[in-house]
Amino acid sequence: MTEPLLRVENLTKYYGSRLGCADVNFELWPGEVLAIVGESGSGKTTLLNSLSATLEPSSGRTLYRMRDEQWRNIYELSEAERRFLVRTDWGFVHQNPADGLRMTVSAGANVGERLMAVGDRNYGHIRETALDWLGRVEIAADRVDDQPRSFSGGMRQRLQIARNLVTGPRLVFMDEPTGGLDVSVQARLLDLLRGLVGELGLAAIVVTHDLAVARLLSHRMMVMKDGRVIEAGLTDRVLDDPREPYTQLLVSSILQV
Ligand SMILES: Nc1ncnc2c1ncn2[C@@H]1O[C@H](COP(=O)(O)OP(=O)(O)OP(=O)(O)O)[C@@H](O)[C@H]1O
Ligand SMILES: [Mg+2]
Repeated sequence: MTEPLLRVENLTKYYGSRLGCADVNFELWPGEVLAIVGESGSGKTTLLNSLSATLEPSSGRTLYRMRDEQWRNIYELSEAERRFLVRTDWGFVHQNPADGLRMTVSAGANVGERLMAVGDRNYGHIRETALDWLGRVEIAADRVDDQPRSFSGGMRQRLQIARNLVTGPRLVFMDEPTGGLDVSVQARLLDLLRGLVGELGLAAIVVTHDLAVARLLSHRMMVMKDGRVIEAGLTDRVLDDPREPYTQLLVSSILQV
C-alpha cells in the first residue's frame, strides 16, 4: 500500500575533477530515519545537499513523492516549486543554528514566520502555535520575544528544530544536528529529537560522524568512504555486525574511545 517517499538513483556529484559522492542509490520510506556516517571528507554533506536540491548533482536522479502523489525529479522542479517544497514539506536543520535561524528577530517570529510562509494569517493562532512549539522544544514561554542571539547553543538548536517542524514537514534533512554542542547538551537534544521524530512520524536523513547519534536516532544507516556508500543496512545490524572491514574499523575505533 504505502510507497517510498524518496527514491535516489545513481546520484553522483563532482566538484570539477574532485569526487564529492558517486553512484548513491537508496529509498527512504515515510517515517524512516536514515543516518549517513563516515569520516571527514567522505561525501556526507555533498550527498545531503544534493538530496535536498541545495546542490545540483553531476548525474543521477532524486525522485520525491509530492503531497499530490506525483513523483518528481527534484532537479527538474521550477524554482517556485522547489521553494514551496522547502517551505512546506521539508525541513533542514543545519549544524550551525545561525545558518537556519534569523538571529535578529524574536524566537516567536522565527517560528511564526514559517507559518505565515504557508499561508497562516491569523496572528493569534500564529502566536499560540509558536508558543506551543517553544514549549515542545523546552524553551520557556518568557523567552518568546528574545532574539536567538541571546540564546545558548543548545537553545538555538532547539529553536531551529521548532522552526523546521512547525509546518508539519514529511522529510527533514539534518547535518550534524548535535555537532558543536557540549556532550551533556547533545544527549538532551538527541532525546528531544528522537521523541519529536517518533511522535510526528517524520522521515529524516541525518548526517553524523557520531555513531552514537546514528544508533539513537536512525532505523537504517549508510556508511560512506571516499564518496561511495560501502555498507548499508539496519542500524543495529551495521553497528553490531559490520560486514565491511572499513565499517569494522569505524565501529571498533569509536568503541575504544
Ligand atoms: N565546494 C566544494 N568544492 C570543491 N570540493 C568540495 C566542495 N565541497 C566538498 N568538496 C570535496 O568533496 C569531498 C566530500 O566532501 P564533504 O564536505 O561532502 O564531506 P563530509 O563527509 O561532509 O566531511 P565532514 O565530515 O568534514 O563535514 C571532499 O573531498 C571535499 O574536499
Ligand atoms: Mg560535512
